[in-house]
Amino acid sequence: MATALIILAAGQGTRMNSELPKVLHPIGSAPMLGHAIQAGATLEPDHVIVVAGHGAEAVRAAALEFDETAQIVIQSEQLGTAHAVAQAAPLLANYPGDALVLYGDTPFIQPETLERMQAARSTHDIVVLGFEAADPGRYGRLVTDGDDLLRIVEFKDATEAERALTLCNSGVVLAPAALLFDLIAQVGNTNASGEYYLTDIVGLARVRGLSATAVTCEESETMGINSRAELARAEAGFQTRKRAEALETGVTLVAPETVQFAYDTWLGRDCVIEPYVVFGPGVTIETGAHIRAFSHLEGCHVARGAVVGPYARLRPGTELSEHARIGNFVELKNALIGEGAKVNHLSYIGDTRVGDESNIGAGTITCNYDGVSKHETVIGARVFIGSNTMLVAPVTVGDGAMTGSGSVITRDVAPDALAIARARQVDKPGMAAKLFEMLRAKTRSRDKGSN
Ligand code: UD1
Ligand code: CA
Repeated sequence: MATALIILAAGQGTRMNSELPKVLHPIGSAPMLGHAIQAGATLEPDHVIVVAGHGAEAVRAAALEFDETAQIVIQSEQLGTAHAVAQAAPLLANYPGDALVLYGDTPFIQPETLERMQAARSTHDIVVLGFEAADPGRYGRLVTDGDDLLRIVEFKDATEAERALTLCNSGVVLAPAALLFDLIAQVGNTNASGEYYLTDIVGLARVRGLSATAVTCEESETMGINSRAELARAEAGFQTRKRAEALETGVTLVAPETVQFAYDTWLGRDCVIEPYVVFGPGVTIETGAHIRAFSHLEGCHVARGAVVGPYARLRPGTELSEHARIGNFVELKNALIGEGAKVNHLSYIGDTRVGDESNIGAGTITCNYDGVSKHETVIGARVFIGSNTMLVAPVTVGDGAMTGSGSVITRDVAPDALAIARARQVDKPGMAAKLFEMLRAKTRSRDKGSN
């Protein structure tokens, strides 16, 4: 069924006590808003409309990252959820499909839940997502009669009997767009909060002889985030789910509770992830790769059979080919490492291509930044870079070449050549012994003087 998403994200989120709009606080390295957009994406929406208010420009930029077709409408005064949804009406004039209302601060709605809501639309005009609340608190209550949803009553406006109901409103609503805006136009604000309640549309629809129903989901899916403490709890819940998913797909997590995932982390079957590995956004790891303890990865791809860490840092633009090996205290940025190539110890490799089977010695640095611009280093196949080589980019080292340890390479090295760029060693026989004697004599005379 054709569907448009309307995501409410205008609230300031006062309780976050933050400069950042609430919906931009991240969970699993993605803003909450991104999670909501992704959840809605399963319905392949024709429109994604984000209702923004506080920090609208930042909200717009984030929305576009998750859906480049996203449209932003501004609700400059937050007069209530119905008023917020109404801001999307001009963009959906004559839209023949359904509209789904989601919330930028409710990131965990599952695709399967939205599909069940869609299925319920075949029998009802309006579908509301509800949940059995462990502690119903101040949630709106769903007043039902069998399968029929009769109305939604806000806590502040509810009678004692209504407050005793435990079936609560998540706020998520699915209805034909035209009907939704038509009903919203009828919503008033004479209630305990003086707000235009979206929830009033159910009662108004019933008066017109239309039908409504509630689909229910786990309370954890409808979790809204209003404070830093709730954000931390949401992150913990997210991580728990991602770890379980990884184990389920055949990934070994040696100590699951210590591994941090991003929303888009992709791990192939039979990967081994050791303790305290952190995945930032944009990481894909193929079958059988091994990520050793205390490594930090973001924006990178690790091919089959590669080994990373312990204590490695893979930054955005890093691409490890099959069976590459990246060892301890190695930082890679925008680097393509060829098949079977090794960077095993204490190195920085940035803006670099390393060919197959090459070996980069301990302490090698690609000097990619001249203080103004970045430059590229190209290292061929089967190259041996001696320990503590500085490769001053832009520079190319040909296939099969070698650099002497401690070299500062400023010019291109031809294939199969050996480049040495360091001061020649000078040996002075007996000089060390003389020097020691001189130094010791000095201390002896000083000690006497102090008596
Ligand atoms: C709303 C529901 C309530 C439900 C609860 C679930 C209404 C009237 N009540 O109550 O039944 O149990 O959510 O969490 O809908 N927003 C805007 N613009 C506005 C008002 C709100 O963008 O003018 C956004 C807020 O940023 C927030 C969301 O809509 O993300 C919900 O608004 P909020 O005021 O928190 O509604 P609740 O009182 O929690
Ligand atoms: Ca709320």
